[in-house]
Amino acid sequence: MRGKLLQMLLEHEGQYVSGEKISQHLGCSRTAVWKHIEELRKSGYELEAAPRRGYRIVYKPNTISEHEIKAELKTKALGQEIVYKDSLVTTQEVAHRLAGEGAIEGTVVVADEQTGGKGRLGREWYSPKGSGLWMSIILKPEIPPQQAPQLTLLAAAGVVRGIQKATGLDCEIKWPNDILFNGKKIVGILTEMQSEPDRIHSVIVGIGINVNQRIEHFPEELQQIATSLAIETGQEVSRTNVMKQILEEIEGLYYTYLKKGFTPIKEIWESFAVSLGKLVRARTIQGVIEGVAKGITDDGVLLLEDEKGEVHKIYSADIEINITKS
Ligand code: BTN
Repeated sequence: MRGKLLQMLLEHEGQYVSGEKISQHLGCSRTAVWKHIEELRKSGYELEAAPRRGYRIVYKPNTISEHEIKAELKTKALGQEIVYKDSLVTTQEVAHRLAGEGAIEGTVVVADEQTGGKGRLGREWYSPKGSGLWMSIILKPEIPPQQAPQLTLLAAAGVVRGIQKATGLDCEIKWPNDILFNGKKIVGILTEMQSEPDRIHSVIVGIGINVNQRIEHFPEELQQIATSLAIETGQEVSRTNVMKQILEEIEGLYYTYLKKGFTPIKEIWESFAVSLGKLVRARTIQGVIEGVAKGITDDGVLLLEDEKGEVHKIYSADIEINITKS
């Protein structure tokens, strides 16, 4: 009920909505409307009440609100179903479970805090309360499993575009899916899938965005290598708006991908790529390879040309850019 009320006020942002209209829409008494208004105030919303005119929103707290997002989101699938929790071990785990239970494509699991956030290559992902955006998107594309890495690149391109729209910041992508601003990591993406050898059941795209952390909020070991949207813009950033813009951008690219294939996505990804054409060091499980990043294949594999002219295919690695030859 409170969610419906919030959605209604947000849909009329800046305007008053009469108590009568609200009580009709919600199917409850005017006294019940007033109680819900008080509840919204307690959760941080500033609501103005004017005699004979009704209620209007004058301030929204910087929380992640599924109702706020839904009121503004212009997507067909992504985020049409949102599962929000104040705290989760990891949104990935919940998204996997929901996908297995038949959740619809586009369902998003988002948490205000993760107590066991997962990064790539078995690492931890620092996900403190109240300042970041930690979400997992469930996709169910009809593509062969070997093409799933393309979706990681697609998500990275969508995130860069979404951040641009929400904040004006131009981020870069370090292969495969680290999103950097001025060389510091601002977003990480972890893609996992549930599949059979020839069929994908679902792809879970986990996106972690440092939104409002200040530098002193990061653990010491991250302070030199990580940053946040607030640090880079010099102001607090609405997590709801960042989420909305990113979901819209990823959905746009996803539909293009399903219709036209990977080529247009690859071009967009390459336009944001920071490693291409540079001398890089790739730390793989097999060892270290140094070479010039020549491009990516249609499977999202990085091509590195070493000094003997031999081209190596890098499937998974940590990449260091701008190295001096060892
Ligand atoms: C990386 O190592 O760069 C990937 C980090 C991915 C973090 C996100 S936060 C939302 C989702 N839930 C997780 O536990 N991990 C991903």
